[in-house]
Amino acid sequence: MDKKILVVGGAGYIGSHMVRRLMKSNYQVIILDNLSTGNKKLIQGNQWVQGSLGETGLMDQLFREHTFEAVMHFAAFSQVGESMSKPLKYYRNNLSETMVLLDAMIHHDVKRFIFSSTAAVYGEPVEVPIPEEHPLTPTNPYGNTKLAVERMLADCDSAYGLKYAALRYFNAAGADPAGEIGEMHDPETHLIPIVLKAASGEIDHIRIYGTDYPTQDGTCIRDYVHVNDLAEAHLLALNALIEGGKSDVYNLGSSNGFSVKEVIQIAEKVTGNKIPVVEASRRAGDPAVLIAGSEKIKRNLGWKPQYKDLESIVQTAWQWHSKQT
Ligand code: UFG
Repeated sequence: MDKKILVVGGAGYIGSHMVRRLMKSNYQVIILDNLSTGNKKLIQGNQWVQGSLGETGLMDQLFREHTFEAVMHFAAFSQVGESMSKPLKYYRNNLSETMVLLDAMIHHDVKRFIFSSTAAVYGEPVEVPIPEEHPLTPTNPYGNTKLAVERMLADCDSAYGLKYAALRYFNAAGADPAGEIGEMHDPETHLIPIVLKAASGEIDHIRIYGTDYPTQDGTCIRDYVHVNDLAEAHLLALNALIEGGKSDVYNLGSSNGFSVKEVIQIAEKVTGNKIPVVEASRRAGDPAVLIAGSEKIKRNLGWKPQYKDLESIVQTAWQWHSKQT
């Protein structure tokens, strides 16, 4: 019988790409999503439970009805800026509700967990590319909540034998090339989809948040990684745990950084359209440079990202974007 995986947040951007990848590998997937930031259009397969991971009764029922091999958790709020002004929203959803899920897992003896962590756990880097051993000093509540969950997972491993992989993503980007799923947030705050909206004329311009950072052109540098490469990494981490592997923490990035201005130039090339920009002040909570060292997951789990340049990543995002308008 196919192994069953609970994908919490499977109607979201990264979660939906994960579900697609799992189904291709013949896993049976149950999606739990309350559609707070997810979208019905992104749901793959037909096994969707509408609800939240913080609902104790629902969690108990789910784990009683199904025998899960593992749980993958993508259902977090993830906007750095919003977390600065609404920290409790982030602590409630990202930390308290995750505790309810973990409680149910331990109670029902499900002991494999794949967690979407983030580059935001590092804060302002003292070393670039950032290795996993880098100090953990988040500069915003979003990063604090993710780090708190990582620590909770380590404690659950010591106490209950929960085996987990915490995957620290840098900037997820692009879309599945089949064009059926892609990035779809409301409101949209991420750079690449906003740049593409400006390229297609849906919005007048893109605001560049900060041109006085200590980088070559004064704009922030980020490490963009294709969403399907992220999904592949999750699958490798899942299979390693199923085969009896130990808990671990991995960065997921491309080891290459691009400034906001460079992203805009690449998007102009891909779309063939001029992208109007307005230079604005810095956005609260943004570190200047975030670039991942991802050697550990390549070495330990054999991760081989397929999308090696930003142009091809933006190309897949543009393909998806063009279908939506
Ligand atoms: N940016 C702009 N204009 C915009 C939107 C973004 O200039 O309209 C800039 C941001 O200031 C930042 C860069 O583009 O410098 C990338 O911003 P995103 O919002 O696309 O992504 P972030 O780097 O802020 O956030 C991402 C993930 C988070 C994760 C974080 C790691 O979305 O979940 O990387 O810090 F925590």
